Amino acid sequence: MYGVVFWLTLVTYFFGCRELSKGLDKQIKSKRPIASIARGSAFDTRKEYILVTGGTGYIGSHTVLKLIEEGYDVVVLDNLSNSVVEPLRRIERILGLKNQIPFYEADLLNYDDINAVFKKYRVSCVIHFAALKAVEESTREPLRYYDNNFGGTVNLLKAMQENSVKNIVFSSSATVYEYSGKDSYTEDSKLACTNPYGRTKLFMESVIEDIYNTAAGTDKQMNAVILRYFNPFGAHPSGLMGEDAGQLPNNLMPYIAQVAVGELDKVHVFGADYNTKDGTGVRDFIHIMDLARAHVYSVKKTSENCGLKVYNVGSGSGYSVLEMIEAMKEACNCQIPFVIDGRRSGDVDKVVCDPTKAERELGFKVEYTLKDMCRDLWRWQQANPHGYRTKAEKSN
Ligand SMILES: NC(=O)c1ccc[n+]([C@@H]2O[C@H](COP(=O)([O-])OP(=O)(O)OC[C@H]3O[C@@H](n4cnc5c(N)ncnc54)[C@H](O)[C@@H]3O)[C@@H](O)[C@H]2O)c1
Repeated sequence: MYGVVFWLTLVTYFFGCRELSKGLDKQIKSKRPIASIARGSAFDTRKEYILVTGGTGYIGSHTVLKLIEEGYDVVVLDNLSNSVVEPLRRIERILGLKNQIPFYEADLLNYDDINAVFKKYRVSCVIHFAALKAVEESTREPLRYYDNNFGGTVNLLKAMQENSVKNIVFSSSATVYEYSGKDSYTEDSKLACTNPYGRTKLFMESVIEDIYNTAAGTDKQMNAVILRYFNPFGAHPSGLMGEDAGQLPNNLMPYIAQVAVGELDKVHVFGADYNTKDGTGVRDFIHIMDLARAHVYSVKKTSENCGLKVYNVGSGSGYSVLEMIEAMKEACNCQIPFVIDGRRSGDVDKVVCDPTKAERELGFKVEYTLKDMCRDLWRWQQANPHGYRTKAEKSN
């Protein structure tokens, strides 16, 4: 008797599991390849949305905050390859929202996934941040960079075309300028790149220009604002949001901040024999909240049928590496040990932007000072020494 019950139970269990697993399979199949909505409930067919790719990343998340503050509805897409979802929760905390920012964990390399987001939301403009961004890594893994940055952008532009989305704001970089030794770079300065990362930006600028030229004068007229960023740093003044740099940050200021907070030993200053005021390299720095605001202005610009526009986004002032260490020392009121090492290949004396075109045409001017940038970076770094993650999560 017990034997019959046992076998009956086993058979029922076995077929039950198969049915259950078939059901799950169906569900998964029907859900794929649609991007999984990881969080966020806000969705309204009457509204127009700004789609932010790379919106959980450093610049993307601060821009999402600024857009929502300015009354825009936003949908975020990111594959979380260099970020976590936490910044969206922090934005909601700052703005007093609850699980309201729609987020899709999706990869730009999966066309069907991104197309599904366009099919669901009425997108009026895309801000395209999603990319890999480490120059040195790009020299070791050029194909990964071309595939992700270039391939991802082509997919995005195709999905925009298929869904008649005509407006885009694109994240480019000062790395597209050919080094000229001039005091500052205007948007007309000569372009040339020395590394695969920079080339992906330059190629993508060209692709956008090609599409713009093809569509010009037709009902498919496109509006594109290409922003060439100089060196963003700093954090939201609340200290709740900032740059979640990796174990060994690639950029100067996150590195200095990690030394200040005791996570790294010392700053390496690469070269003190440049033709600059103190021999160390000079760069143009911009507060992350200023940069985020430049995107809001750019979205407005696209809605005015601006055609194709290119703007430098920087402060127009140059600070040397030693000046930056000094400024951070003041902000944190602590010592920041450093050593002078040899020059790195590819580094140059001075890269500073001429910001007049953005001021004239976009009405954009930086509001935060160097002191503000260091103060906010320090506030964020002290409260979040390992970024949005714990030390253990970060080292994984
Ligand atoms: N931070 C800088 O100093 C700087 C300077 C100039 C230009 N930029 C450009 O600005 C943009 C944003 O930079 P950031 O500093 O915020 O970088 P970030 O790494 O913090 O953000 C980029 C985001 O894109 C996501 N991503 C990457 N590939 C993706 C893909 N295939 N599909 C979906 N998501 C993907 C990452 O997960 C990440 O969240 C990048 O395009 C970068 O090249 C940055």
